[in-house]
Amino acid sequence: MQPTVLAQRAIAPLMPPPRRPAERLIQLGAIDDAALADELQAGLEARPARVSPKFLYDELGSRLFDAITLLDEYYPTRTEAAIFASQRAAIARAVGAGCTLIDLGAGDCRKAESLFAALAPQQYVALDISVDYLAGAVERLAREWPRIDVLGIGLDFSADFALPADVCGARRLFFYPGSSIGNFAPDAAVALLARLRDQAGADGQLLLGVDLLKPVAELEAAYDDALGVTAAFNRNLLRNANRRLGADFRAADWRHLARWNPTQACIDMYLEARYDIEVVWRGRSHFFPLGSRIHTESSHKYCPAELRRLLRGAGWQLDHLWLDADERFALAHARVA
Ligand code: AVJ
Repeated sequence: MQPTVLAQRAIAPLMPPPRRPAERLIQLGAIDDAALADELQAGLEARPARVSPKFLYDELGSRLFDAITLLDEYYPTRTEAAIFASQRAAIARAVGAGCTLIDLGAGDCRKAESLFAALAPQQYVALDISVDYLAGAVERLAREWPRIDVLGIGLDFSADFALPADVCGARRLFFYPGSSIGNFAPDAAVALLARLRDQAGADGQLLLGVDLLKPVAELEAAYDDALGVTAAFNRNLLRNANRRLGADFRAADWRHLARWNPTQACIDMYLEARYDIEVVWRGRSHFFPLGSRIHTESSHKYCPAELRRLLRGAGWQLDHLWLDADERFALAHARVA
Protein backbone atom coordinates (compact mmCIF):
# COMPACT_ATOMS: atom_id res chain seq x y z
CA MET A 1 0.00 0.00 0.00
CA GLN A 2 1.35 3.44 -0.90
CA PRO A 3 1.82 6.01 1.83
CA THR A 4 -0.35 8.57 0.03
CA VAL A 5 -3.30 6.16 0.04
CA LEU A 6 -2.74 5.48 3.72
CA ALA A 7 -2.76 9.17 4.49
CA GLN A 8 -5.96 9.65 2.55
CA ARG A 9 -7.67 6.81 4.40
CA ALA A 10 -6.54 8.21 7.71
CA ILE A 11 -8.18 11.59 7.13
CA ALA A 12 -11.19 10.32 5.24
CA PRO A 13 -13.64 10.28 8.18
CA LEU A 14 -12.83 13.93 8.90
CA MET A 15 -13.45 15.10 5.37
CA PRO A 16 -16.90 15.79 3.99
CA PRO A 17 -17.85 13.75 0.94
CA PRO A 18 -16.78 15.68 -2.16
CA ARG A 19 -19.63 17.70 -3.57
CA ARG A 20 -19.84 18.73 -7.19
CA PRO A 21 -20.52 22.46 -7.72
CA ALA A 22 -23.96 21.72 -9.22
CA GLU A 23 -24.98 19.97 -5.99
CA ARG A 24 -24.03 22.92 -3.83
CA LEU A 25 -27.07 25.04 -4.64
CA ILE A 26 -30.62 23.86 -4.03
CA GLN A 27 -33.79 25.91 -4.52
CA LEU A 28 -36.83 24.69 -2.58
CA GLY A 29 -40.04 26.27 -3.83
CA ALA A 30 -40.07 29.03 -6.42
CA ILE A 31 -40.36 32.75 -5.66
CA ASP A 32 -43.93 33.69 -6.57
CA ASP A 33 -43.81 37.31 -7.77
CA ALA A 34 -47.55 37.39 -8.44
CA ALA A 35 -48.29 36.34 -4.84
CA LEU A 36 -45.77 38.89 -3.52
CA ALA A 37 -47.42 41.66 -5.54
CA ASP A 38 -50.85 40.66 -4.18
CA GLU A 39 -49.49 40.66 -0.63
CA LEU A 40 -47.95 44.11 -1.10
CA GLN A 41 -51.19 45.45 -2.59
CA ALA A 42 -53.27 44.07 0.29
CA GLY A 43 -50.94 45.75 2.82
CA LEU A 44 -51.04 49.12 1.06
CA GLU A 45 -54.84 48.98 0.81
CA ALA A 46 -55.33 48.03 4.48
CA ARG A 47 -56.19 50.88 6.87
CA PRO A 48 -53.96 51.57 8.60
CA ALA A 49 -51.62 50.53 5.78
CA ARG A 50 -49.04 47.96 6.83
CA VAL A 51 -46.57 46.04 4.67
CA SER A 52 -44.04 43.32 5.45
CA PRO A 53 -40.45 44.54 5.97
CA LYS A 54 -39.33 42.02 3.34
CA PHE A 55 -40.41 44.63 0.75
CA LEU A 56 -37.58 46.86 2.00
CA TYR A 57 -35.03 44.40 0.63
CA ASP A 58 -34.83 44.67 -3.13
CA GLU A 59 -31.34 45.09 -4.58
CA LEU A 60 -31.01 48.78 -3.66
CA GLY A 61 -32.67 48.14 -0.29
CA SER A 62 -30.12 45.45 0.56
CA ARG A 63 -27.29 47.83 -0.35
CA LEU A 64 -28.83 50.61 1.72
CA PHE A 65 -29.07 48.22 4.67
CA ASP A 66 -25.36 47.41 4.23
CA ALA A 67 -24.73 51.18 4.40
CA ILE A 68 -26.87 51.42 7.56
CA THR A 69 -24.58 48.91 9.27
CA LEU A 70 -21.70 51.40 8.81
CA LEU A 71 -23.51 54.38 10.38
CA ASP A 72 -22.33 55.84 13.69
CA GLU A 73 -25.84 55.62 15.14
CA TYR A 74 -26.52 52.02 14.08
CA TYR A 75 -24.68 50.06 16.78
CA PRO A 76 -26.12 46.48 16.39
CA THR A 77 -23.88 45.13 13.59
CA ARG A 78 -20.58 46.34 14.96
CA THR A 79 -21.53 45.50 18.55
CA GLU A 80 -22.42 41.95 17.59
CA ALA A 81 -19.17 41.64 15.64
CA ALA A 82 -17.28 42.78 18.75
CA ILE A 83 -19.01 40.05 20.78
CA PHE A 84 -18.06 37.42 18.16
CA ALA A 85 -14.46 38.65 18.28
CA SER A 86 -14.10 38.82 22.07
CA GLN A 87 -16.03 35.60 22.81
CA ARG A 88 -14.73 33.44 19.96
CA ALA A 89 -13.09 30.88 22.26
CA ALA A 90 -16.05 30.70 24.64
CA ILE A 91 -18.46 30.27 21.72
CA ALA A 92 -16.30 27.47 20.30
CA ARG A 93 -16.18 25.72 23.70
CA ALA A 94 -19.94 25.96 24.11
CA VAL A 95 -20.73 24.72 20.59
CA GLY A 96 -18.03 22.06 20.20
CA ALA A 97 -16.20 21.14 17.00
CA GLY A 98 -17.73 19.56 13.91
CA CYS A 99 -21.20 21.07 13.98
CA THR A 100 -23.58 21.42 11.06
CA LEU A 101 -23.73 25.22 10.87
CA ILE A 102 -27.03 26.43 9.40
CA ASP A 103 -27.04 30.16 8.66
CA LEU A 104 -30.39 31.97 8.58
CA GLY A 105 -28.93 35.39 7.98
CA ALA A 106 -26.65 34.34 5.20
CA GLY A 107 -26.41 37.15 2.61
CA ASP A 108 -22.70 37.35 1.84
CA CYS A 109 -22.00 34.69 4.55
CA ARG A 110 -19.25 36.87 6.11
CA LYS A 111 -20.64 36.75 9.65
CA ALA A 112 -20.69 32.98 9.74
CA GLU A 113 -17.32 32.84 8.04
CA SER A 114 -15.84 34.90 10.88
CA LEU A 115 -16.59 31.90 13.12
CA PHE A 116 -15.36 29.13 10.79
CA ALA A 117 -11.82 28.96 12.16
CA ALA A 118 -13.04 28.78 15.76
CA LEU A 119 -16.01 26.44 15.23
CA ALA A 120 -14.52 24.14 12.55
CA PRO A 121 -17.98 23.12 11.30
CA GLN A 122 -18.12 19.91 9.25
CA GLN A 123 -20.87 21.37 7.08
CA TYR A 124 -22.00 24.95 6.42
CA VAL A 125 -25.50 25.53 5.07
CA ALA A 126 -26.44 29.05 3.96
CA LEU A 127 -30.18 29.75 3.73
CA ASP A 128 -31.80 32.61 1.85
CA ILE A 129 -35.11 33.22 0.11
CA SER A 130 -33.39 32.84 -3.25
CA VAL A 131 -30.39 30.62 -3.90
CA ASP A 132 -29.35 33.17 -6.55
CA TYR A 133 -28.27 35.54 -3.76
CA LEU A 134 -26.06 32.78 -2.32
CA ALA A 135 -24.35 31.40 -5.40
CA GLY A 136 -21.30 33.69 -5.40
CA ALA A 137 -20.61 33.45 -1.68
CA VAL A 138 -21.11 29.68 -1.60
CA GLU A 139 -18.65 29.11 -4.46
CA ARG A 140 -16.08 31.35 -2.78
CA LEU A 141 -16.45 29.61 0.60
CA ALA A 142 -16.23 26.15 -0.97
CA ARG A 143 -12.96 27.21 -2.59
CA GLU A 144 -11.47 28.86 0.50
CA TRP A 145 -12.64 26.29 3.07
CA PRO A 146 -12.05 22.91 1.39
CA ARG A 147 -12.55 20.97 4.62
CA ILE A 148 -16.08 22.30 5.07
CA ASP A 149 -18.97 20.89 3.04
CA VAL A 150 -20.57 24.15 1.83
CA LEU A 151 -24.18 24.21 0.70
CA GLY A 152 -26.58 27.00 -0.33
CA ILE A 153 -30.31 26.47 -0.04
CA GLY A 154 -33.03 28.80 -1.29
CA LEU A 155 -36.02 28.51 1.02
CA ASP A 156 -38.40 30.76 2.93
CA PHE A 157 -37.79 29.90 6.58
CA SER A 158 -40.38 32.46 7.72
CA ALA A 159 -42.94 29.88 6.51
CA ASP A 160 -43.09 26.22 7.47
CA PHE A 161 -40.01 24.49 6.10
CA ALA A 162 -38.14 21.19 6.13
CA LEU A 163 -34.43 20.94 5.42
CA PRO A 164 -33.50 18.53 2.62
CA ALA A 165 -31.60 15.30 3.30
CA ASP A 166 -28.39 16.96 2.01
CA VAL A 167 -28.20 18.76 5.35
CA CYS A 168 -26.49 16.58 7.93
CA GLY A 169 -28.93 15.66 10.70
CA ALA A 170 -26.37 15.55 13.50
CA ARG A 171 -25.03 18.42 15.62
CA ARG A 172 -27.13 21.07 13.93
CA LEU A 173 -26.42 24.64 15.03
CA PHE A 174 -28.86 27.27 13.80
CA PHE A 175 -27.14 30.65 13.44
CA TYR A 176 -29.48 33.64 13.36
CA PRO A 177 -27.43 36.80 13.87
CA GLY A 178 -28.06 40.52 13.52
CA SER A 179 -31.21 40.69 15.65
CA SER A 180 -33.25 39.82 12.57
CA ILE A 181 -35.50 37.92 14.99
CA GLY A 182 -36.55 41.44 16.11
CA ASN A 183 -38.55 41.86 12.90
CA PHE A 184 -41.04 39.33 14.27
CA ALA A 185 -43.53 40.17 17.00
CA PRO A 186 -42.83 38.01 20.07
CA ASP A 187 -45.51 35.38 19.28
CA ALA A 188 -44.27 35.03 15.69
CA ALA A 189 -40.68 34.90 16.99
CA VAL A 190 -41.62 32.01 19.28
CA ALA A 191 -43.28 30.22 16.34
CA LEU A 192 -40.12 30.63 14.21
CA LEU A 193 -37.81 29.50 17.02
CA ALA A 194 -40.10 26.49 17.65
CA ARG A 195 -39.85 25.52 13.95
CA LEU A 196 -36.07 25.73 14.25
CA ARG A 197 -36.22 23.54 17.35
CA ASP A 198 -38.27 20.98 15.40
CA GLN A 199 -35.63 20.95 12.64
CA ALA A 200 -32.68 20.93 15.03
CA GLY A 201 -32.74 17.33 16.32
CA ALA A 202 -32.20 16.22 19.91
CA ASP A 203 -28.61 17.54 19.95
CA GLY A 204 -29.56 20.80 18.25
CA GLN A 205 -28.17 24.21 19.21
CA LEU A 206 -28.93 27.83 18.46
CA LEU A 207 -26.74 30.94 18.25
CA LEU A 208 -29.02 33.97 18.23
CA GLY A 209 -28.13 37.68 18.04
CA VAL A 210 -30.61 39.90 19.87
CA ASP A 211 -30.77 43.65 20.34
CA LEU A 212 -31.38 44.80 23.92
CA LEU A 213 -33.57 47.45 25.50
CA LYS A 214 -31.82 50.79 26.00
CA PRO A 215 -32.64 54.49 26.31
CA VAL A 216 -35.22 55.61 23.75
CA ALA A 217 -32.99 58.37 22.34
CA GLU A 218 -30.31 55.84 21.35
CA LEU A 219 -32.86 53.51 19.77
CA GLU A 220 -34.59 56.24 17.80
CA ALA A 221 -31.26 57.64 16.58
CA ALA A 222 -30.24 54.16 15.36
CA TYR A 223 -33.35 54.11 13.15
CA ASP A 224 -33.32 57.78 12.13
CA ASP A 225 -29.70 58.64 11.40
CA ALA A 226 -28.36 62.09 10.65
CA LEU A 227 -27.23 61.19 7.13
CA GLY A 228 -30.71 60.02 6.19
CA VAL A 229 -29.60 56.55 5.07
CA THR A 230 -32.37 54.81 7.05
CA ALA A 231 -34.88 57.29 5.60
CA ALA A 232 -33.70 56.35 2.10
CA PHE A 233 -33.88 52.66 3.02
CA ASN A 234 -37.48 53.13 4.20
CA ARG A 235 -38.57 55.28 1.23
CA ASN A 236 -37.03 52.77 -1.17
CA LEU A 237 -40.00 50.54 -0.33
CA LEU A 238 -42.05 52.90 -2.48
CA ARG A 239 -39.78 52.32 -5.48
CA ASN A 240 -40.20 48.61 -4.91
CA ALA A 241 -44.00 49.09 -4.87
CA ASN A 242 -43.77 51.10 -8.09
CA ARG A 243 -41.93 48.25 -9.74
CA ARG A 244 -43.99 45.38 -8.33
CA LEU A 245 -47.42 47.00 -8.72
CA GLY A 246 -46.83 49.58 -11.43
CA ALA A 247 -47.68 52.24 -8.81
CA ASP A 248 -46.71 55.92 -9.04
CA PHE A 249 -45.48 56.70 -5.53
CA ARG A 250 -43.13 59.68 -5.29
CA ALA A 251 -40.57 59.04 -2.56
CA ALA A 252 -40.25 62.77 -1.76
CA ASP A 253 -43.94 62.94 -0.73
CA TRP A 254 -43.28 60.70 2.27
CA ARG A 255 -41.55 61.39 5.56
CA HIS A 256 -39.49 58.72 7.31
CA LEU A 257 -40.57 58.10 10.91
CA ALA A 258 -38.94 55.86 13.52
CA ARG A 259 -40.76 55.80 16.86
CA TRP A 260 -40.26 53.80 20.04
CA ASN A 261 -43.41 51.84 20.86
CA PRO A 262 -43.37 51.32 24.64
CA THR A 263 -46.27 48.86 24.79
CA GLN A 264 -44.80 46.48 22.19
CA ALA A 265 -41.14 47.18 23.09
CA CYS A 266 -40.19 47.85 19.49
CA ILE A 267 -39.09 50.57 17.12
CA ASP A 268 -41.82 51.13 14.53
CA MET A 269 -40.89 52.56 11.15
CA TYR A 270 -43.46 54.39 9.07
CA LEU A 271 -43.76 56.41 5.91
CA GLU A 272 -45.98 59.40 6.62
CA ALA A 273 -47.78 61.42 3.93
CA ARG A 274 -46.48 65.00 3.81
CA TYR A 275 -49.61 66.17 1.92
CA ASP A 276 -52.86 64.72 0.73
CA ILE A 277 -51.52 62.18 -1.74
CA GLU A 278 -53.15 60.23 -4.52
CA VAL A 279 -51.39 57.13 -5.78
CA VAL A 280 -52.48 54.91 -8.64
CA TRP A 281 -51.83 51.17 -8.87
CA ARG A 282 -53.47 48.42 -10.86
CA GLY A 283 -55.89 50.84 -12.47
CA ARG A 284 -57.26 52.35 -9.24
CA SER A 285 -56.54 55.58 -7.40
CA HIS A 286 -55.79 55.44 -3.67
CA PHE A 287 -55.98 58.37 -1.28
CA PHE A 288 -53.54 58.94 1.59
CA PRO A 289 -54.54 62.03 3.61
CA LEU A 290 -51.85 64.30 5.06
CA GLY A 291 -50.30 62.62 8.11
CA SER A 292 -51.51 59.11 7.29
CA ARG A 293 -48.95 56.37 7.64
CA ILE A 294 -47.72 53.17 6.06
CA HIS A 295 -46.15 50.89 8.67
CA THR A 296 -43.05 49.30 7.11
CA GLU A 297 -41.10 47.59 9.90
CA SER A 298 -40.98 46.82 13.60
CA SER A 299 -37.76 45.98 15.40
CA HIS A 300 -38.36 44.36 18.79
CA LYS A 301 -35.93 44.76 21.67
CA TYR A 302 -35.47 42.44 24.64
CA CYS A 303 -34.07 42.27 28.12
CA PRO A 304 -32.20 39.07 29.11
CA ALA A 305 -35.13 37.73 31.18
CA GLU A 306 -37.59 38.23 28.30
CA LEU A 307 -35.18 36.58 25.90
CA ARG A 308 -34.88 33.56 28.19
CA ARG A 309 -38.70 33.31 28.29
CA LEU A 310 -38.93 33.65 24.51
CA LEU A 311 -36.48 30.76 24.03
CA ARG A 312 -38.12 28.65 26.73
CA GLY A 313 -41.51 29.13 25.08
CA ALA A 314 -40.07 27.74 21.85
CA GLY A 315 -38.48 24.68 23.46
CA TRP A 316 -34.94 26.01 23.82
CA GLN A 317 -32.85 26.16 26.98
CA LEU A 318 -30.66 29.27 27.24
CA ASP A 319 -27.12 28.09 27.86
CA HIS A 320 -24.93 31.19 27.53
CA LEU A 321 -25.64 34.86 27.08
CA TRP A 322 -22.74 37.02 25.97
CA LEU A 323 -23.11 40.80 26.10
CA ASP A 324 -20.83 43.62 25.01
CA ALA A 325 -19.33 45.79 27.75
CA ASP A 326 -22.08 48.42 27.39
CA GLU A 327 -24.83 45.76 27.41
CA ARG A 328 -26.32 46.98 24.15
CA PHE A 329 -26.53 43.67 22.31
CA ALA A 330 -26.68 40.00 23.25
CA LEU A 331 -25.50 36.77 21.69
CA ALA A 332 -27.48 33.83 23.06
CA HIS A 333 -26.45 30.18 22.90
CA ALA A 334 -29.26 27.70 23.51
CA ARG A 335 -29.81 23.94 23.35
CA VAL A 336 -32.91 21.94 22.58
CA ALA A 337 -34.68 21.67 25.92
C1 AVJ B 1 -32.05 43.67 9.67
C2 AVJ B 1 -34.07 43.61 10.92
C3 AVJ B 1 -31.98 43.53 12.04
O1 AVJ B 1 -34.24 45.92 12.70
O2 AVJ B 1 -32.25 46.68 13.08
C4 AVJ B 1 -32.16 48.61 10.27
C5 AVJ B 1 -33.31 46.34 9.90
N1 AVJ B 1 -34.21 48.66 9.71
N2 AVJ B 1 -32.55 49.90 10.20
C6 AVJ B 1 -33.08 46.12 12.37
C7 AVJ B 1 -33.23 47.84 9.97
C8 AVJ B 1 -33.79 49.93 9.86
C9 AVJ B 1 -32.61 45.62 11.00
N3 AVJ B 1 -32.69 44.13 10.90
